[in-house]
Amino acid sequence: MANHSILILAGDGIGPEVMAEVRKVIDWFGARRGIGFDVSEDLVGGAAYDAHGTPLTDATMEKAQAVDAVLLGAVGGPKYDKLDFSVKPERGLLRLRKEMDLFANLRPAQCFDALADFSSLKREVVAGLDIVIVRELTSGIYFGEPRGIITEGNERVGINTQRYTESEIARVAKSAFELARKRSNKVCSMEKANVMESGILWREVVQEVHDRDYPDVELSHMYADAGAMQLCRWPKQFDVIVTDNLFGDLLSDAAAMLTGSLGMLPSASLGAPMANGRPKALYEPVHGSAPDIAGQGKANPIACILSFAMALRYSFDLGDEAGRLEAAVEKVLADGLRTADLLGEEGVTPVSTSEMGDAILGALDAGL
Ligand code: IPM
Ligand code: MG
Repeated sequence: MANHSILILAGDGIGPEVMAEVRKVIDWFGARRGIGFDVSEDLVGGAAYDAHGTPLTDATMEKAQAVDAVLLGAVGGPKYDKLDFSVKPERGLLRLRKEMDLFANLRPAQCFDALADFSSLKREVVAGLDIVIVRELTSGIYFGEPRGIITEGNERVGINTQRYTESEIARVAKSAFELARKRSNKVCSMEKANVMESGILWREVVQEVHDRDYPDVELSHMYADAGAMQLCRWPKQFDVIVTDNLFGDLLSDAAAMLTGSLGMLPSASLGAPMANGRPKALYEPVHGSAPDIAGQGKANPIACILSFAMALRYSFDLGDEAGRLEAAVEKVLADGLRTADLLGEEGVTPVSTSEMGDAILGALDAGL
């Protein structure tokens, strides 16, 4: 039983609403599958700032380090836009990623058949799409030093530094190759080796790791700008894409939209194995806090629920149970259930966040 510990950090905006639906799903697994989770909750982002004057307290950081999996909702909102950079809600999330050393961020972009017409691309381009972007998450330009805004002569200069060590590149490349072996065995690595030294090193190290340990995996390289173009032109050419922190941030939003709605996409951020063999892990939807619809019951809980499915698979080695949950999501979509982000079909009335959650529980029951 227990020995499955989870820390829930619902955060800001729609975070708490979508996380409430995940709670129901977690409870369902306890009640109907006998898989108990030891769940605790805490604050992150603006919510933590309001309570403690910091987007992540040391105590919460310690809890996050101690559990098997952290589930995060979303952080940020207009209320916090004017805060000093060091206490902005996003810093809480970045601190979790950095201190837990969650270097491999898995962002699947999967197009559910029932939703293929929601994509801004043609159905034939996206139907059946199933790719994963592996984004390096703890280094690169989001963390590199020097950084800051300095004054030079009579004007200000904004500085950020792109910096990658060989070992940082090698470990995320390894994650991508391992993942590809469980899928279609293809990795495309993206950088800007034509203009950036860090890109040249990235390409060399990915190739070395491949040649040494993963010669069976098909590896290609692309400049990230061309990769963005190819993602829109014919995304099904890809299986696993591995790329750095900045390009991964951009490419994963673009890939997400191919599937029709940001409200559908989960993510897993994984680090090195802990003493119990499970990787350090944080799971979160790719969407943000959506302050414009927060508190109205309009948010789509599916991305957050599918993030929990990823936790079942990657943290708890419960791949079958993850599949059960994913099938339940697919079923409610096939049945025509839509939250407000997925409108456009004739005669469809949106369901609320909690109605969507309840329908998924119903589909889980039906699947037993
Ligand atoms: C993401 C987000 C974050 C990032 C923000 C909220 C810090 O855009 O997870 O993609 O830039 O990594
Ligand atoms: Mg982003």
